Amino acid sequence: MKPVTRRNFIRTGAAAALGISAVPAAAFAADVDAQPVKVGVVGMGNRGTSHVNCLLTIGGVEIVALCDLFENRAVNAAEICVKAGRKRPSVYHGDMNTYRQMLDKEPMDAVIIATYWDSHTPIALHALKNGIYPGIEVPAALTVDDTWNLVETSENTGVPCMMLENWSFRQDNLALLNMVRLGMFGEIVHCHCAHSHDCIDHWFFDSKTGEQRWGAEYLLRYNRDQYPTHSVGPVISWLDINRGDIFTEITSTATASKGINAYFKRRFGDSHPNANLKYSQGDIVTSVLKTKMGKTLVINYDMQLPRPYSNRWMLQGTKGVYFEEKPAIYLVDVSPEYHQWEPWKPYEQKFNHKWWQGDYSALSHGGTDYVMLSQFISAVRAKGQTPVDVYDSAVMTAIVELSGISIANNAPVAFPDFTKGKWQSNKPYFAMDRTL
Ligand SMILES: NC(=O)c1ccc[n+]([C@@H]2O[C@H](COP(=O)([O-])OP(=O)(O)OC[C@H]3O[C@@H](n4cnc5c(N)ncnc54)[C@H](O)[C@@H]3O)[C@@H](O)[C@H]2O)c1
Repeated sequence: MKPVTRRNFIRTGAAAALGISAVPAAAFAADVDAQPVKVGVVGMGNRGTSHVNCLLTIGGVEIVALCDLFENRAVNAAEICVKAGRKRPSVYHGDMNTYRQMLDKEPMDAVIIATYWDSHTPIALHALKNGIYPGIEVPAALTVDDTWNLVETSENTGVPCMMLENWSFRQDNLALLNMVRLGMFGEIVHCHCAHSHDCIDHWFFDSKTGEQRWGAEYLLRYNRDQYPTHSVGPVISWLDINRGDIFTEITSTATASKGINAYFKRRFGDSHPNANLKYSQGDIVTSVLKTKMGKTLVINYDMQLPRPYSNRWMLQGTKGVYFEEKPAIYLVDVSPEYHQWEPWKPYEQKFNHKWWQGDYSALSHGGTDYVMLSQFISAVRAKGQTPVDVYDSAVMTAIVELSGISIANNAPVAFPDFTKGKWQSNKPYFAMDRTL
């Protein structure tokens, strides 16, 4: 496949207006029949297998190749495709670099990367150089240098690059984005978000044996916001980051690390090795980001203490406030009672984004993954820009290393301008005019 040029990108325009209006689905359906989008997937663990299942529900997608370190995982995923009545994808397995054979040999338009964190960037770079759209699981990179590498390789090859930040595509977050763009909150001043998700009892460690899974190594070695993209994903569009505004600075601070040891003592007893191992990662990381236009954002990393899941999205402007955890809203001259919350749901329905026309609730993450992957595939099919571009992917990703530097130095850190000044003229793009 030839690299796409910038000229091929789908451009948004004022006429496209907000994503509230319906766009005829028939045009897309006709395209789907004409030419399947060929997709490969690397990393056939939990997330990669979930992506395979989701891709099978999207019209006009052919899964051509699958790759994992372990043969049985890649073969299992191939079986899922066969059971769904599709052609058996080629299977690759071996070592950390086997993906190169797959990307060099198999003709494909896009590759989904759902591997361990340390291989996201090398696989994406290889794909970009081969003219293949990478859809990269979160975070896209672990260092600012690698983030720049993704940005510049995407620019130099002309191939779009998207991090698969699914929470940007949630129905509530997209409805809120519509309302922000309609000016209903006035000028946006401040946001808060969090990834409050206790992953010690299942994701970082094996839930039955307590053995470390691959992610636990990062908790031993680093103290930083390890997983900022789910919380910050939707917020960057609410704040017009990279499009009229930009993060200028990040200051992060971390608590002591108590939760991991406490969990192991509680669950496995005092003598379990992980009950006394010293973890670098503090339980709660709080980052404050400033923007050029005077907005602030607070992000919490919170993945090691026992608690129900929450993202605690909160948005405040000169005309109102939204609080996801309640969920509730207050709008000046709109809400029925002065300075009193009213329920959010009616607003979500009224300002529903056009990407949420159907009931996808039975699909993974309540349909959010379907909406995200459908939009990604639609961009690949059109040889256009991806719904989340490389600059937005970079901003979310860079928080990982920058927060660690700020904690280590006990000082603010300047935030890179991945757009190299283009943020000043870039217009809002995410979720403006694409359709399923
Ligand atoms: N967006 C979301 O909601 C969400 C949810 C869970 C996980 N994730 C992300 O998905 C990714 C995978 O997480 P997971 O929970 O599926 O992990 P997992 O351990 O279940 O699966 C990872 C798989 O990748 C394979 N792998 C690793 N390096 C490889 C390489 N170089 N080549 C080929 N295969 C390789 C492993 O063998 C394993 O099967 C992570 O980046 C994680 O952050 C995202």
